[in-house]
Amino acid sequence: MSKHIKIFDTTLRDGEQSPGCSMNIKEKIQMAKQLERMKVDIIEAGFAISSPGDFKSVRAVAETVKESVVASLARAGKEDIDRAWEAVSVAEQPRIHTFIATSPIHMKYKLNMTPDQVVEQAAEMVKYAKKYCSDVEFSAEDATRSDLEFLARIFTEVIKAGATTINIPDTVGYTVPDEFYDFLIKLQELCPALDNVDISVHCHNDLGLAVANSLAAIKAGAVQVETTINGIGERAGNAAMEELVMALKTRNDVLKADTGIVTTEIMRASKLLSSITGVKVQPNKAIVGENAFAHEAGIHQHGVLQHKSTYEIMTPESIGLTTSNMVLGKHSGKHALRNKAKELGFDLTEEALERAFVRFKELADKKKQIYDGDIEALLSKEALQVPKAYQMKSFVINSGNSITSTAVVAVTKDGKTIEKVARGDGPIDAAFQAIGKIVGKKLRLEDYQLHSVTEGMDALGDALVKISSNGKTYAGRGLSTDVIEASIHAYINAVNKMIYEENKTNGV
Ligand code: KIV
Ligand code: ZN
Repeated sequence: MSKHIKIFDTTLRDGEQSPGCSMNIKEKIQMAKQLERMKVDIIEAGFAISSPGDFKSVRAVAETVKESVVASLARAGKEDIDRAWEAVSVAEQPRIHTFIATSPIHMKYKLNMTPDQVVEQAAEMVKYAKKYCSDVEFSAEDATRSDLEFLARIFTEVIKAGATTINIPDTVGYTVPDEFYDFLIKLQELCPALDNVDISVHCHNDLGLAVANSLAAIKAGAVQVETTINGIGERAGNAAMEELVMALKTRNDVLKADTGIVTTEIMRASKLLSSITGVKVQPNKAIVGENAFAHEAGIHQHGVLQHKSTYEIMTPESIGLTTSNMVLGKHSGKHALRNKAKELGFDLTEEALERAFVRFKELADKKKQIYDGDIEALLSKEALQVPKAYQMKSFVINSGNSITSTAVVAVTKDGKTIEKVARGDGPIDAAFQAIGKIVGKKLRLEDYQLHSVTEGMDALGDALVKISSNGKTYAGRGLSTDVIEASIHAYINAVNKMIYEENKTNGV
């Protein structure tokens, strides 16, 4: 018999804590909708008390998502729990996820509390959360470096107080599979109350063992696993959802467990996250890496052509990977674009579709063949569009190998044109300097990348720009068959996101 495993996705909370992975409210909603489409059981939408922006995002996700449980993280304190509840109470299926550290090292140096105080605080706060919400998860932070008997004691108390899920995190990614298995078996012997709740695990990937440890935990009785898309998260990240889910699906014969995840949505979720954060996955990343289904060596290609199963243990189609088709052309209408958007899984407003259609027509004028990849890039950019405080009007670049590059960039803002000239170290730098002068604010360029969306001389260039201001990073994307234009669009998009977030935080 196959055991059902619940997937608790924390891309929007633990994932977002990883450097360079912050998302604005619009992006979080898009990501949450994708997670819901994948049939994730629980979506951890954020840490409501951590900032006003986080609170608003958790609440917006709670309002949007209907099919999955929506959770907010909260430390074991009244203020945290009040704020978490304020944010998730609007959800169809809300959960409060509260935690406290239980390892001697954390209790002594971080919390400055005795073990007795920690048990008391945890039980009291679970009881407090329970007054609001019937679904309460309790996590023992740094559980794998905690004393087993102490864990059994605290779990007994929080279960008595009403916790319905007990999460056992490997916070620092320290444990190894056999050890974790034995640890969990022993814990269940010491704490019979665990029989009455869902046992969950949350494994970090510091030793590259997060998925392996999660699988060992399933064998030992865990029924919920906490994961993130592309494995993003604190430091080396969390267990990657796509790896865990596909391992359970592909090796169900030995693992005897499965999830309800719609695996054909995996690739789309991975790409959406990369396009939001600008953090690409490594090419050889399991399941979603560019090379995961590529067969380079002649002997492998020959084998796969003879029979796919020679070198393929799962099909590319099972994760939603399809070969890029030539789809739409110059003469395709809005109706065809709407249908394509639906087929590719985009949920666009009429306004966003209208904008995408204008971009599509511009692209069709410049590019002979338009592929799914081009359409996906256009649609995902429009779906995530924030109000355009600044809009590019025109640019002129003067550059060469024997002159200093200069750029003249003109933008519109509130109906007025602003134009600035700047010199720079190459054409892109000159253009960015000119935009910096227009914005009149100290902006730091953190990252700049340029990729081609599909192949060919007329391929669409996809530029990523990350800028930072006041300690926050904003990622912008720009698309054009002209790479300088794509780069300017990306920079302006990042500036617009910064303005959008600042306005949201200030309640504008
Ligand atoms: O890694 C961890 O321990 C956590 C908890 C807050 C669940 O993220
Ligand atoms: Zn974590």
